[in-house]
Amino acid sequence: MVDLKHLKSKLLIVLFCSCAATLVLFSYSNLSSYLLQLDYRQSDKPVSKALCAFRQCISVEDEDPWFMKRFNTSISPLLSQENAILSKSTYYWWQRLQTKQNANYGDVVRKLFQVVPGKGHYNDSAPNRCRTCAVVGNSGNLNGSDYGSIIDSNDFVIRMNKAPLLGYEKDVGNRTTHRVMHPESATNLQKDTSLLLIPFKTLDLEWITSALTTGTVKRTWMPVMAKINADKNKVLIYNPTFLKYVHDVWLERHGKYPSSGFLTLMFAIHICDEVNVFGFGASKDGTWQHYWEKNKFRKSEPTGLHAGDYESLVMKLLACKRKMKLFEGR
Ligand code: C5P
Repeated sequence: MVDLKHLKSKLLIVLFCSCAATLVLFSYSNLSSYLLQLDYRQSDKPVSKALCAFRQCISVEDEDPWFMKRFNTSISPLLSQENAILSKSTYYWWQRLQTKQNANYGDVVRKLFQVVPGKGHYNDSAPNRCRTCAVVGNSGNLNGSDYGSIIDSNDFVIRMNKAPLLGYEKDVGNRTTHRVMHPESATNLQKDTSLLLIPFKTLDLEWITSALTTGTVKRTWMPVMAKINADKNKVLIYNPTFLKYVHDVWLERHGKYPSSGFLTLMFAIHICDEVNVFGFGASKDGTWQHYWEKNKFRKSEPTGLHAGDYESLVMKLLACKRKMKLFEGR
């Protein structure tokens, strides 16, 4: 009886989600009020690879109009020799993100792909593929979560910036297959971890080439690591065209440009079949701290140049539509 009631209410929620999706809202306030009506939270049962086959696959075309209108598999999340020429609109938008630079993009990319692989990756979507991914943000809501083993059970464990593991394994796990960074947030990597660089400027591409070879770039808008320990054969570069697509299509141009966290999530949504998201959002006490330190963000969202509120709303909508699973801490 209880189960029937539970099932009925779950069915009602799913039905409500799909109906509401047809009323896609185009402004922040509309999206926000829409989401307020949805119960986006989902079960936080441990992820099992055996269950994967029964899950809804992101890359399978489904009828959800809101998702399908945005989800574009024709833009590669990663920069390669094949897609390195940027359209004029992408190039100028990307150049305006940060300080003006004089470097010749063509030369910079040519040198870059002499050092790191210039081939495409992860274009292997197939009906029988079931790649599970954990996207691990840096929020203090991970503290005491006990999520470590769930995180580690994913095929890919994607972490960001300087987030440490030592001493936090019970809550954050100890595997890292990918670490996303930009020069100002760089950290040394283990041999088996892929470095995913998000270039917010041409200088970031020069930096990674230099950090893996000569070490001549020591400064961007702040001092940065001159050399980095990372396997250069495992270095991946976020595609500026994909960066603009995330900003234009998924965030509808809210904020100056997307946060590293949201860009990482979108990377996962496009290359994984199941996405499990950890360490995003405020802690229970409402603070926005890193899980390993008391940083400057207190009691308010660290939006800065990013549309933090809008990013969270889109994430909640994706969770509601079962395109990702949001683990919000305990
Ligand atoms: O602070 P940092 O940029 O290293 O964090 C990486 C990502 O983790 C952020 O872009 C954000 O999406 C997420 N984060 C969060 N709440 C926090 C800290 C980080 O959602 N308190």
